[in-house]
Amino acid sequence: MEGRLLARARAKQAQLRTDNKAEEDRRRREVYAAVPELERLDTELRGIMSELVGRVLGRPGRSPEELEAAGLALRERRAALLQKAGHPADYLDPIFSCRRCRDTGWADGAVCDCLRKLYKQEQTRELAPLLRDGRETFGRFRLDYYSAAAPEGELSPREQMQRVLTICRSYAENFGPGSPNLLFTGAPGLGKTFLSAAIARVVSESGSGVAYDTVSATLSAFEREKFSRDTDEQADAASRVRQLMSCDLLILDDLGTEMSTAFSQSALYSLLDGRIRAGKKTIISTNLDDDGIAERYGAALASRLKGEYEWLPFRGRDIRELKKELR
Ligand SMILES: Nc1ncnc2c1ncn2[C@@H]1O[C@H](COP(=O)(O)OP(=O)(O)OP(=O)(O)O)[C@@H](O)[C@H]1O
Ligand SMILES: [Mg+2]
Ligand SMILES: [Zn+2]
Repeated sequence: MEGRLLARARAKQAQLRTDNKAEEDRRRREVYAAVPELERLDTELRGIMSELVGRVLGRPGRSPEELEAAGLALRERRAALLQKAGHPADYLDPIFSCRRCRDTGWADGAVCDCLRKLYKQEQTRELAPLLRDGRETFGRFRLDYYSAAAPEGELSPREQMQRVLTICRSYAENFGPGSPNLLFTGAPGLGKTFLSAAIARVVSESGSGVAYDTVSATLSAFEREKFSRDTDEQADAASRVRQLMSCDLLILDDLGTEMSTAFSQSALYSLLDGRIRAGKKTIISTNLDDDGIAERYGAALASRLKGEYEWLPFRGRDIRELKKELR
């Protein structure tokens, strides 16, 4: 699990505890106001508890058996009063959203399912801008948008995209430390972001940490980390940068559309180089071809992208235009 998403999940859990505590207090006030005897009973019960503790520590008082009997009688009276007031017997007990871990997030020496669920929600929320409305899944990737006409001795766009689809599907299903990095290249509107989203969904649902962002948003986190004077903003950017550097799969969209500065170039280089060296996987989408990449980013980065990434050329006609024509 990733630190910053886990921290958010734990904050959600802390909020649940706070809400439950507020509800416990509200119930107590409500019941005490309606049945003042219950408040006296609770005070007496607490007295019995501390007398019992005192006995264990060797102080004088009633015998443990006597105390137990007195406690039992008080609890019976209490349950009867609660019932008469129209409440279940456990109405004033502590409220837990998860009984298994009592909202601590830990049960039987492991992370409890309830915390896992909150964590997954944070993960999905963070991917929301990429997953859009959830229409972009492998099953909905249409091949008929790509022409079946092949130039002499070449694959048709449809055959090529069939291959790309097969590779992406298998990549998502088998994602792990042995997976390659991928580079999606091709003109606008050919499905690069679509397939990125489909991969992100499957990999993230299988439990790996996935981060998605455009290159320009990614670099702006690096900029804020380095240059922001607002400490909150700076700390937030720093944790985003840590996540971008260390998540299992980073999806970087629209390489080549960001504003190019000396800072952006070096931040991008250290991000991509650092991830290669840490063995973390990255998927990059770009409209640039290899010459364009070398020209814009220089030989050092171009050589890493060539040597360390599997290139998947997207072909065909702009699907944004095709859809417009078909309407
Ligand atoms: N194979 C496909 N089947 C169905 N819809 C598709 C397919 N490919 C792309 N689309 C749709 O076409 C539009 C453009 O696709 P997408 O955003 O993935 O293109 P892109 O290659 O990322 O383009 P750009 O380089 O401009 O970012 C989107 O609305 C997407 O859902
Ligand atoms: Mg795109
Ligand atoms: Zn739990």
